[in-house]
Amino acid sequence: MSLLKVSNIVAGYGETEILHGVSIAIEEGHVVTIIGPNGSGKSTLLKAIFGLIKPKKGQVLFQGKDITGLAPETVVRRGLCYVPQSSNIFPSLSINENLEMGAFIRTDDFRQRLEEMYLLFPDLAGRRKDRAGTLSGGQRQMLALARALMLDPALLLLDEPSAGLAPSMVGSVFEKILGINRSGVAILLVEQNAREALKLSSWGYVLASGRNQLEDRGENLLNNPDVARLYLGG
Ligand SMILES: Nc1ncnc2c1ncn2[C@@H]1O[C@H](COP(=O)(O)OP(=O)(O)O)[C@@H](O)[C@H]1O
Ligand SMILES: [Mg+2]
Repeated sequence: MSLLKVSNIVAGYGETEILHGVSIAIEEGHVVTIIGPNGSGKSTLLKAIFGLIKPKKGQVLFQGKDITGLAPETVVRRGLCYVPQSSNIFPSLSINENLEMGAFIRTDDFRQRLEEMYLLFPDLAGRRKDRAGTLSGGQRQMLALARALMLDPALLLLDEPSAGLAPSMVGSVFEKILGINRSGVAILLVEQNAREALKLSSWGYVLASGRNQLEDRGENLLNNPDVARLYLGG
């Protein structure tokens, strides 16, 4: 049984259909990357999985259970968390408050988890009381990851975590993603930085114009000359 199985999703905004029957799957503990041109529907697919938009057709199974069209606050309770590309932290709140917000549905004592996050992200530990808005772009992305991890999810959906970062920070973000995965969290990654993302991925999908175009093992996509020419910068 796949951890997440998305079958023939049709979704969009209002009357506009963006996804015309997309299917993907991810196994427990794996990293899977979705690449594809701008506007191909990658972000829309993550939103449809997480319940931010309601699919018109198709099915989303998570841990074997049907979560199609359930609201995000229900989906997170099942162990599926999502980090959007932007507006993924609260700049006016402190770093510590951001992490506490991440744990909003937890009724147990989450202080231990909070400390685990500070161990995983030492840059944040020294700045607990600082407003999140004072962090660098890379540190904000780390905070967004830590916030999502507060709920100890089985699967993280990450929308372009390296976008807009200084080149020197991109490597650190991918390193953290690998570390998070090694701690047992499966990751569905959408990335423009396709080469780096595919290196971490057991499987990858190419999405084009709201349709599945190609899928293969990450390393096979990396070595595929057509994929390299179109999506990996030659
Ligand atoms: N909130 C929205 N309302 C209407 N159209 C949108 C919205 N968000 C995205 N779109 C459109 O959906 C298409 C796919 O966008 P998106 O899923 O963001 O692509 P990608 O993430 O692959 O770049 C684009 O044509 C985009 O203009
Ligand atoms: Mg996008």
